[in-house]
Amino acid sequence: MSSVTAPALSSLVRAQLASPSPIRQIMKMAERQNIIAMGLDPDEVISFGGGWVNHEAPEEFRQAYLEVVSDPALFHKSGGYTATLGDMECRQQIARFEAALFGVPHLGPEHVAIGMGSTQLTHDLFRVLVNPGDTVLLLDPTYANYEGQLAFAAPGVSIVRLRVVDPDTWSYLPDVDPAGIAREFRRLFDLHKPRLVLFGAPDNPTSQVVPQALAEVMLERSRDAGAWLAIDFAYKCQYFAPCPAYYAWSPADHPNVIGIHSNSKWARGLGRRLGWIEAAAAVVDALERVQQCSILCPDTLEQMTMARYLQRAIPSGSLQRYVEATNALYRKAAQVTIDAVDRHLRRPRLVPAGGLYTVVDVGRDAETFVPEALKTTGVLVVPGRGFGPSLASGVRISFGPLVNQPERIEEGLARLARALA
Ligand SMILES: Cc1ncc(COP(=O)(O)O)c(C=O)c1O
Repeated sequence: MSSVTAPALSSLVRAQLASPSPIRQIMKMAERQNIIAMGLDPDEVISFGGGWVNHEAPEEFRQAYLEVVSDPALFHKSGGYTATLGDMECRQQIARFEAALFGVPHLGPEHVAIGMGSTQLTHDLFRVLVNPGDTVLLLDPTYANYEGQLAFAAPGVSIVRLRVVDPDTWSYLPDVDPAGIAREFRRLFDLHKPRLVLFGAPDNPTSQVVPQALAEVMLERSRDAGAWLAIDFAYKCQYFAPCPAYYAWSPADHPNVIGIHSNSKWARGLGRRLGWIEAAAAVVDALERVQQCSILCPDTLEQMTMARYLQRAIPSGSLQRYVEATNALYRKAAQVTIDAVDRHLRRPRLVPAGGLYTVVDVGRDAETFVPEALKTTGVLVVPGRGFGPSLASGVRISFGPLVNQPERIEEGLARLARALA
């Protein structure tokens, strides 16, 4: 063994390694070898931990893959680079996708930057939008990855949080107190002057959708102050009630509004990395410069295939039918989950308005509850604290991976109830 020690890692990465996210730690704890070490049978473990979907990708999309892969010339082409912002035809088709499904007006390829999924795009977008010393306004709770992404992409940024869940009543404040939450947003905005406001619609982990009225207050304040308003639409196609009007906001009409989009959840393309940003042309051009250094270009095979699929599926209506059928599947899984939570756990919870999740108040520190529950019942949920302090006594329950197994959802929550007893 060499006695020479490796040089030090960067101070930024060392700081981040020293504060791993509680969610990552739990997911590590649930790895197969750790489950076996706990004396559990991995096949008996029911996991509500994963933030992923389990329905089938569109069959016509798979066929498009077959066409590209089985044609030697097309396959050869798929091994080449595309432009840094993505293939023009794919950008065009994505603009049409948004117009066809959500009525987004005046959207052209110049508003679309394709990347390798919304995780990479969000990181690069932070690089484009914020400076050290700036403030970013997030919700409490919200998607746990934003903090780390900000730390890496924009070191020296402060985060301010608008609390949207009341941990005492376990209610979603924009629904129960719309005037109060708008007032609180204005107060925080005027006090901290954020350069960027970011929320998910529907959000992870709450699966709640910011109502139109609050989004309008955010739009007005951010526009007047010269700030950005970004909406993370990772779960845009999983929506269980009529969409609010801001689902159709276009950067052509609202140049300070940015949409972050992903193919991961609607088309079950989690591993076929493709996402896109919808923004004013200046943001798209700036992203091109950043992506030249981060990815050079998005995945060519996935872009060629997606463009081929959308060229046919938009005019034939099969895209619309696919999205509606998928949505119905998740709406049903959400209902099964809430019914089982009410029957077995009998604890305060939020009813999903979309997405893959609910959050349940376990009435105690969730970071100790979750590992205990895993050991005693073989059921994995995610502690809420990593999403924001309002969820310190809450857990996130994901029905995404179990969308086709309602009986496992039922059994898992019945078993979890034993840990709560
Ligand atoms: C709110 C939110 N945004 C982004 C992502 C990441 O999506 P992608 O697969 O496009 O990187 C997730 C994944 O769980 C998410 O929950």
